[in-house]
Amino acid sequence: MFSGKAKAYTNIALIKYWGKKNQELILPMNNSLSLTLDAFYTETTVTFSTEFTEDQFYLDNQLQDSKATIKISRFLDLARKKTGCTLFAVVKSQNFVPTAAGLASSASGLAALAGAVSAALNLDLSPIALSRLARRGSGSASRSVYGGFAEWEKGTSDETSYATKIISNDFEQDLSMIFIVINDAKKDVSSRDGMQRTVETSSFYDGWLQSVPKDLAKAKAAIAAKDFTALGEVTEASALKMHGTTLAATPPFTYWSAESMKAMNLVRQLRTTGVSCYFTMDAGPNVKVLVERKNEEKVLDELAKHFDPTQLIVAHAGPSIEILSTEEA
Ligand code: DP6
Repeated sequence: MFSGKAKAYTNIALIKYWGKKNQELILPMNNSLSLTLDAFYTETTVTFSTEFTEDQFYLDNQLQDSKATIKISRFLDLARKKTGCTLFAVVKSQNFVPTAAGLASSASGLAALAGAVSAALNLDLSPIALSRLARRGSGSASRSVYGGFAEWEKGTSDETSYATKIISNDFEQDLSMIFIVINDAKKDVSSRDGMQRTVETSSFYDGWLQSVPKDLAKAKAAIAAKDFTALGEVTEASALKMHGTTLAATPPFTYWSAESMKAMNLVRQLRTTGVSCYFTMDAGPNVKVLVERKNEEKVLDELAKHFDPTQLIVAHAGPSIEILSTEEA
């Protein structure tokens, strides 16, 4: 029996990944740029044993059904293939999120799984190789290998598509991200399905793709110059453009709810009163507010007038993936 354990933190894209050119390899249509955060993380243990007769997957101590387990098995196969291992595995994953508000992230989950299986099988992967492996589980997981800012280079093949760390002179330490947790009764469109539908049907998708290189360059220049305003502006613009593409898909859809709009408007209002802050959104109704740490309290105070305190979660820059143990027994 041998096992590996890893801990990975979630990341939020400032320049969004939205669309794949290869579903199986998870090769994206565009580069993306993210900030890894400290508030949400996943710890995963993968144990291989001759005694197991099938792969099993426990999430937060609950044994998962075959649909969820198949996804994990396929991912484990990628690592098994590398070493010729034919053993079954038990995967135990724990999501650490401040509230049970649907904030569990595939980025931290699949990055932790990649770290744990590579530790169990002694793959001895470089960060780039680990990022490539994590990418095969979920695109955004490729970026959770690193602390702080990361860029996922879209590449053109399995080999050339991976994330790297962006050198930032600790600019990320000046930043906070406030999550506004918005529960929504609407049926979810997963990011995987949503981006695919958009690539295939949205007449706005080409516009999105054309805009990304410029936005990415702006974001990187802003990080290099520690220019919060420039980074915030391009972050908000990237999110709005991404969400714009969904409106022109067939059938059209949106991740926004009335509460999301309320949160976005509050952020805009705060700016008019001189508090610099910007929003971003992913494949759900939650709104995340990027603000300088020195203004975090001000923004929180304002948001607390409109949202319940339990809906507000503060995150700061998080560390890179940690391999916690490798054991053989
Ligand atoms: C909107 O990484 O969850 O959060 O690669 O299909 O697993 P798959 O998708 P996923 O998509 C994330 C989309 C996003 C933007 C981002 O994180 O860049």
